[in-house]
Amino acid sequence: MTHQTVYVVDFGGQYTQLIVRRVREFGVYSEMIPWTTAAEKISSSKPSAVILSGGPKSVLEPGAPTLDFSVLEGIPVLGICYGQQLMAHQLGGKVEKASHKEYGLRTLVPTGTKPHSLVADLTSDQVWMSHGDQVLGVPQGFTVTASTDSCPIAAFENASKVQYGVQFHPEVTHTPDGKTVLKRFLFDHAKLKADWTSESFIDEQIASIRATVGEGKVLCAVSGGVDSSVMAALLIRAIGDRAVCVFVDHGLLRKDEAAQVKETFLGHFSGNLKAFDVQDQFFDALKGETDPERKRKIVGENFVKVFEDHASELQGCDFLAQGTLYPDVIESGSPTAAKIKTHHNVGGLPAWMTMKLIEPLRWLFKDEVRSVGRRLGLPEDMVEREPFPGPGLAVRVLGEVTRERVHMTQEADWIFRSELKARGLNRGIWQSYAALLDVRSVGVMGDERTYEQPIVLRAVESEDAMTARAVNIPFEALEAISRRIVNEVQGVNRVFYDLTSKPPATIELE
Ligand code: XMP
Repeated sequence: MTHQTVYVVDFGGQYTQLIVRRVREFGVYSEMIPWTTAAEKISSSKPSAVILSGGPKSVLEPGAPTLDFSVLEGIPVLGICYGQQLMAHQLGGKVEKASHKEYGLRTLVPTGTKPHSLVADLTSDQVWMSHGDQVLGVPQGFTVTASTDSCPIAAFENASKVQYGVQFHPEVTHTPDGKTVLKRFLFDHAKLKADWTSESFIDEQIASIRATVGEGKVLCAVSGGVDSSVMAALLIRAIGDRAVCVFVDHGLLRKDEAAQVKETFLGHFSGNLKAFDVQDQFFDALKGETDPERKRKIVGENFVKVFEDHASELQGCDFLAQGTLYPDVIESGSPTAAKIKTHHNVGGLPAWMTMKLIEPLRWLFKDEVRSVGRRLGLPEDMVEREPFPGPGLAVRVLGEVTRERVHMTQEADWIFRSELKARGLNRGIWQSYAALLDVRSVGVMGDERTYEQPIVLRAVESEDAMTARAVNIPFEALEAISRRIVNEVQGVNRVFYDLTSKPPATIELE
């Protein structure tokens, strides 16, 4: 790799991933490494700096997460919370159980006259604390640079060794000027350069893809979603039409989405797109099925069938590209997994597909994928597309999935999302969609009785889809959207707005 790297050693803290994100936001590449393998990794690949995360344990407990500090010799280090305590503990300082836990905002008071310290002259003196133990004596060579009313050593440093510790969390937004603390560490003290950009990522990945693939061909299943689109655009840039992009048009996408995917790939990338129109196959297979799990299974199985039916066209592919992102890598706990695994959107691939897996986006967060997509020239509406489930509208049309019911859902969904956009209400929304319920209710339209189906609108805010909250859409907008849906979508006579958070609900209805 040509760029500098900051390792964030994870001691089990709830904000570790956030530290990685922050460092990357400043244009410095960062990776999270578990404490169990950190010493080995640091000594073998000498990072430009190391940040030690927080963690739930006490450094005083036997068996607590630890690190052999000898591997850090000559490397700039910032310890945060548990990381600071571990630093003190390992380097000869003193850590003790505090008389009471400190949790929440505290006022930071810089001590001494250290004009260049990490914590001098911050624009806000408020810092976020969340700890039980605390440092009560600094190791030799260190000086105390800040305290709070209940934490005498809230920050310490040994500037000549470029080693810093803070008890508070500079990475969270509750610490208003926390970014300055991190930036000072990275740029003023560790002397790093901001050399991690979308361009450098693209250049590196192109070189790496070319080296891995050689003269081979890569199968890229594109779904229209941002991850697979960016992945395919990257592969096309790297190996041209040896990136065989396959788009399965199963008829379960949002309104006009299939046409947009084809247009983008054929227009912008002159890529080698094989679009299989298999709508009849999917609707036939789903006929009469109402059970959510069975519907998912049917969609998965039929993806496989499409690949099998087109085996001769696809068999020359030696590699399968998958749009795995960094949070998936972190969650799986194994950054080295390289064997073929089931595509999460495809649900099991045929046995003849003995392809090697490549995952060019496995180092990126979602927003980084989006900026790489922009840099590769993908249109804004594709880059900004909301996450969409692999089984598509099959899980948003409750009950039987028929062409007519999918069409109703697509139309209502289109009205909902375009109204949100037109009203400037779509910003900050993680996902917004319309689903069709499998019940009927009575209404009255034009003096006639109706007995038709209801649409549910759902819009959620989320960080990572693990938890979500319903978006507070103004009532007036909901009312106007509801009116349009009932007037314009035949077969719908009622509209509901889903207020449930996740948990206890899920984002999708099925
Ligand atoms: P739930 O409904 O479980 O969804 O809260 C969490 C996130 O995952 C998406 N989702 C899927 N994505 N294949 C996918 O690729 C699937 O089968 C699938 N099911 C749900 C959902 O849209 C949300 O973003």
